[in-house]
Amino acid sequence: MVEVKIERLKELDQETLERLIEIYMNAYEGMREYGGEGESYAKRYLRWCWNKAKDGFFVAKVGDEIAGFIVCDSDWYSKYEGRVVGAVHEFAVDKRFQGHGIGHRLMEKCLEYLAKQNDRIELWVGEKNEGAARFYEGYGFRRVGQSGIWVRMVKDVRKGDNSSGKN
Ligand SMILES: CC(C)(COP(=O)(O)OP(=O)(O)OC[C@H]1O[C@@H](n2cnc3c(N)ncnc32)[C@H](O)[C@@H]1OP(=O)(O)O)[C@@H](O)C(=O)NCCC(=O)NCCS
Repeated sequence: MVEVKIERLKELDQETLERLIEIYMNAYEGMREYGGEGESYAKRYLRWCWNKAKDGFFVAKVGDEIAGFIVCDSDWYSKYEGRVVGAVHEFAVDKRFQGHGIGHRLMEKCLEYLAKQNDRIELWVGEKNEGAARFYEGYGFRRVGQSGIWVRMVKDVRKGDNSSGKN
């Protein structure tokens, strides 16, 4: 496997936005109900992510190409928790690059970042997206509820703990 670098995204310029949309669309291929509702939705959603969580927007690069990304928000008001928690808003790796450990690298970066500021992390995963749900369980996320087709998962972290908590 070629070298993978994890970096904080510096700027969401047009070229980068288009690449992220491409990744988002192909990562969710075959799971249309959970993502990839269309490119214009993806564009709006990714811009929303960028505006909401610039400091926690990390990309994985293989050479100069973005292969995947994760959006981690340290300031998310969860109405389910009734308080501010950390949140993972989006997590996707280009299909071409899946299964090579890039997702693990991104998740480790995300947890390291959020653990500095949050004691609980929340995310939502599609109910049929078993692969991703198991991936999250490997990091200590627990399934705690469901709303429609979305399953809510949470993980408790010790503030300042740098270890990812991977089982
Ligand atoms: C989830 C995702 C980001 C993981 O990225 P990745 O680079 O393939 O992950 P890695 O190679 O580091 O790790 C692969 C692990 O993911 C698991 N996995 C997650 N989703 C999977 C899927 N759809 N198909 C196969 N394996 C999947 C594998 O079981 C494997 O587990 P292991 O490490 O215990 O063997 C990627 O599969 C993806 O983009 N999926 C589509 C979008 C998505 O579901 N995002 C999460 C929404 S909440």
